[in-house]
Amino acid sequence: MNHTSDRRTFAIISHPDAGKTTLTEKLLLFGGAIHLAGEVKARGANRRARSDWMKIEQQRGISVTSSVMTFEREIEGMGGLTFNLLDTPGHEDFSEDTYRTLTAVDSAVMVIDAARGIEAQTRKLFEVCRLRSVPIITFVNKVDREGRPPFELLDEVAEMLQLDVTPMSWPVGMGSDFEGIYDFHANALSQPEGPSREFMGKARRFTGLDDPALESVLSAPGLATLRDEAELALGGYGEFDVEAYRAGDQTPVYFGSALKDFGVAELIDALGRHAPGPRPQPAEPAQVLPDRADVTGFVFKVQANMDPNHRDRIAFMRLCSGTFKRGMKLTPTGHGKPIAIHSPILFFARERELADEAFPGDIIGIPNHGTLRVGDTLSERADVRFTGLPNFAPEILRRVALKDPTKTKQLRKALDDMAEEGVTQVFYPEIGSNWIIGVVGQLQLEVLLSRLEAEYKVDAGLEMAPYDTARWVSAADPADLKAFMDLNRTSMAKDRDNNPVYLAKTAWDVGYVADRYPKVTFAATRER
Ligand code: G4P
Repeated sequence: MNHTSDRRTFAIISHPDAGKTTLTEKLLLFGGAIHLAGEVKARGANRRARSDWMKIEQQRGISVTSSVMTFEREIEGMGGLTFNLLDTPGHEDFSEDTYRTLTAVDSAVMVIDAARGIEAQTRKLFEVCRLRSVPIITFVNKVDREGRPPFELLDEVAEMLQLDVTPMSWPVGMGSDFEGIYDFHANALSQPEGPSREFMGKARRFTGLDDPALESVLSAPGLATLRDEAELALGGYGEFDVEAYRAGDQTPVYFGSALKDFGVAELIDALGRHAPGPRPQPAEPAQVLPDRADVTGFVFKVQANMDPNHRDRIAFMRLCSGTFKRGMKLTPTGHGKPIAIHSPILFFARERELADEAFPGDIIGIPNHGTLRVGDTLSERADVRFTGLPNFAPEILRRVALKDPTKTKQLRKALDDMAEEGVTQVFYPEIGSNWIIGVVGQLQLEVLLSRLEAEYKVDAGLEMAPYDTARWVSAADPADLKAFMDLNRTSMAKDRDNNPVYLAKTAWDVGYVADRYPKVTFAATRER
C-alpha cells in the first residue's frame, strides 16, 4: 500500500511562552496519543529519568533534546492519517538544533500569542522555513485572554513576514468578552462552557454569518462586532488558496486557545486536509521524489546518551522514499559499508516503539556508536546524497582553554563529536594552537562544558575570543580564494570538515572584507 499521501510531518515554531507545549499536548490528546492533559508538560520528570546525564536540563528545567511524536487521526472524507510532530527545542539558545529539525518537516504550524504578535524567535524560525518554502499554518493562541485586535495581528504577520494571510476563523471577542470562535468555512461557532470557560463540545453550524439563529447564542454587541469584522476580513484578505499555501506564499490563520481547547481540532483538520504529505527533497544528482521505490533518508539530528547506561547515540533519520523494513541494510553515503538496521525506533508520544515498517515522512531513530553524522544520507543503493542541511554561522565564539595539557587528544575527540552532533561548531585556526568553538546561543556553552567534564573527563575553560562571528569562504576561481586566504591568514581557520572559514572581529568586518574581495563568497550558512 502506498502511504506517501497519509503522512503529515510537521513542526511547531514559536517564541518561548506562546503556548507550544500546551498546543503539543492538546494535539496529542486530540490525536489520541496521550490520555491525560498535562503529560507533555510533566514530561520534564519522565524525561529527566531518561536523560539525567545532562544536569543543565534539570537546572534550567528546559528540554535540551528534541523528540518526535506520532499520532493518528481520522479526517472526515480522507481516512486515517499519521501525523509526525517534530518537537523543536523552544529555548532560543537552541536554535541551531531547531533549524536542522526544520529541514526534516514538510510543513509547520506557527504559534503566536494574541497579545504579543510576532516575536523574535518566531521570526527567526520563520526565516528558516522560508529558505525551504515550508508551508505555514498560523495559530493565534490565547484568545481567551485580552489580546491585540485580530486585524492588527493579521497585518503584522503579513508585513513582518511578507506573507499573504487569509483568516480561516474569527474570534468573537477576546479575554472577558470572549464568546467563541467562528469557523468561516464550516460556518460553525464553537463556544466556551462552564466556570473555566473551556471548549467542551458546544459547537453549532449556521447557514452563514447572517443566520438569525446566531442571535440566540451570541450577545448583541458580540454578534454585531463579529458581523462587521468578518465582512471586512473576508473582503480584505484573499481567499484561502491551497497552492499558494503549499508554495509558502500564503498562510491560513486560525484563532484559538490551546489551553481551553479552542481551535485545536480545526488545526489538526487543516493539517490533514491542506498540509502537504512528503515533499520532494533536494539531493544530488537529482531531487528525490517520495514515490521513488528504494529507501532513502537523511540524518537531521544525532542525540547522545539518551540512555545513560549505554554510550549509544540515536541518529534521527527522515525517510524520504521507499518502504523501510526492520533489518534492512542502508549505506551511509560517502563513508562506509552498508549497515543493517535491526532495532530502529519510532518515537511515539508515550514510549519508544520498535518499528517494523516506516514510510516517507516518518522519522526513524537508529542506534549507533557514532558512525552516523548529521547530514548523512542513508540509502539502499548509495547513489544519492541529500543536500540542504545547513550549518549556521555561529554568533558566539570562544577559545577553549585546556587546564590539563595531557588531555589534548580527548579534547579534540570531544569537540569533534559535539560538532558532529551539531551541538557546537569547532574551528581550528591556521595560526596558533587555540581551538575556537562557535555556538548560536549562550546556553550551548554550558552544555559543552558540562559534557566535556561528565562524558570526556576533560577540564576546560572558555575564554573570550577576539572574534564575533565566522563565515565560510569560497570562490569560483581557486586562485582568488587562495589570494584572500594568504593575505588574511591570521583570521583563517578550518572547520571540522576542513572547509576554510574566515573568523571576523565584528559583523561590520565581514561587510568590509566582502566589499574588498568581491570574488570571494562569504556564507553565513553552509550546506552539509
Ligand atoms: P511554550 O511551550 O511555547 O513556552 O509555552 P507553554 O505551552 O508552556 O505556555 C506558556 C504559558 O502560557 C503557560 O502558562 C500556559 O499555561 C499558558 N498558555 C498556553 N496556551 C494558553 C491559552 O490558550 N490561553 C491562556 N490563557 N494561557 C495559555 P504558565 O503560567 O507559564 O505555565 P503553567 O503554570 O500554566 O504551566
